[in-house]
Amino acid sequence: MPVTILIGAQWGDEGKGRIADWLARQTDGMARCAGGDNAGHTVMVGEREFKLHLVPSGVIHPNVQCFMGAGMVINPIRLVEELDMLAAQGVDVSPARVHISGRAHVITPGHMALDGASERALGGESIGTTRRGIGPAYMDKAARTGILTGAMRDPAGFAEQILAAVDGANWLLTERYGLDPIDPAGLADQYRAAAERLAPYIADTTHLIHTLLEAGQRLLCEGAQGTLLDIDHGHYPFVTSSSPTAGGALTGLGFGPRAVERVVGVAKAYCTRVGNGPFPTELEDATGEQMRRAGHEFGTTTGRPRRCGWLDGVALRYAARVNGLTEIVITKLDVLSGIDPLRIATSYTLDGDPLATLPPDTASAERAEPVYETIPGWQADISGARRLEDLPGQARHYIDRMQQIAGVPAMMISVGPERDQAIIL
Ligand code: GDP
Ligand code: IMO
Ligand code: MG
Repeated sequence: MPVTILIGAQWGDEGKGRIADWLARQTDGMARCAGGDNAGHTVMVGEREFKLHLVPSGVIHPNVQCFMGAGMVINPIRLVEELDMLAAQGVDVSPARVHISGRAHVITPGHMALDGASERALGGESIGTTRRGIGPAYMDKAARTGILTGAMRDPAGFAEQILAAVDGANWLLTERYGLDPIDPAGLADQYRAAAERLAPYIADTTHLIHTLLEAGQRLLCEGAQGTLLDIDHGHYPFVTSSSPTAGGALTGLGFGPRAVERVVGVAKAYCTRVGNGPFPTELEDATGEQMRRAGHEFGTTTGRPRRCGWLDGVALRYAARVNGLTEIVITKLDVLSGIDPLRIATSYTLDGDPLATLPPDTASAERAEPVYETIPGWQADISGARRLEDLPGQARHYIDRMQQIAGVPAMMISVGPERDQAIIL
């Protein structure tokens, strides 16, 4: 069973890109299954930094075939920019190894404008989206009014579809939101050119993936976002519009559960969240600031400062269950050096009553108070550790607690953004 699914076990930005890059050594194909350029995955290779939004991180490894699956929403302009950026960094992004499903959905200029308009209209109740048009694109998909990536095979027809979509969005922008319409001048040329560029990449990725699997080759599904941002299993409406959990890999790429061998959850040693919504263990104090500074916790996609807080063990256990995790990877353990003592939330209280599981709804998640276990911290810089024995006892104890809480073993501990800054277990 050659499929491994890599999932964010928190609110996104757990270091999935960096871990996908590591696992790419043992994989033949890598796929993105859901979401779009709301994702920002960072991979450091020596002095070079790659920031990927749509293309799987495996692209940096020359022998990995890369797939963008049907569950994704793709902004063609951004994808062309990303391919150009990768090519300029010396990466082979030819259609021989990069494949886009013809069944994914296209993000139009209207989707981006409507994402911003809706967020502005929500004011203090806003979701804090990345404003990349993700929600409106999935709205059109569900309404069966979207544009498929396969339409780019006919660049002139595609440009016409984009103009019609912009026209529809302009009605909403002006009539519903009282905003200026999008100026369509130049859009047809811009989208026709993007379609001409991307048409050779459009493929039947489902067939290609099954051909790869039937040949006994291995596929890694690089999840985007995180479990607590899942539209069904996160705290709605403070979620994204897709399924970043393990099930989303199956529907987004088109294979069955029996193909899956491993489900790896990536969890930071603490928690972060970008955007609004419940975050019970959030720290709005000097410790949270220290995590943000030491962990460079600023969004890869939007540059926004990430909210930081203690590890939420209840959320981690929930992620292990919802995804059927077989193992975890712990990232950014190095960031906790110098914070003493450390805390992990192991349960909550809700209106004075104990609660051992994730609060069932968003309002109760806002009221839930974490119950913390206190764990001794350590002072040493651990970014040079390559074996468990190199770590202080307190750090090993912290790792043990994370594994016990998740209920599955850790396969790797990351102690820095560089490729070799890891302890393999
Ligand atoms: P993703 O969206 O899950 O791929 O994560 P991002 O790339 O958005 O954010 C993770 C950030 O942490 C990136 O800047 C990585 O280079 C960095 N990073 C990943 N693992 C580690 C680690 O173990 N230690 C430190 N200090 N940084 C890490
Ligand atoms: P990666 O793959 C962190 C968050 C946004 C917002 C909510 C909805 O890098 O982990 P959207 O634009 O999707 O409609 O925004 O989801 N969000 C992410 N947060 N990492 C991400 O991706 C995210 N993608 C979306 O901040 O709260
Ligand atoms: Mg990210």
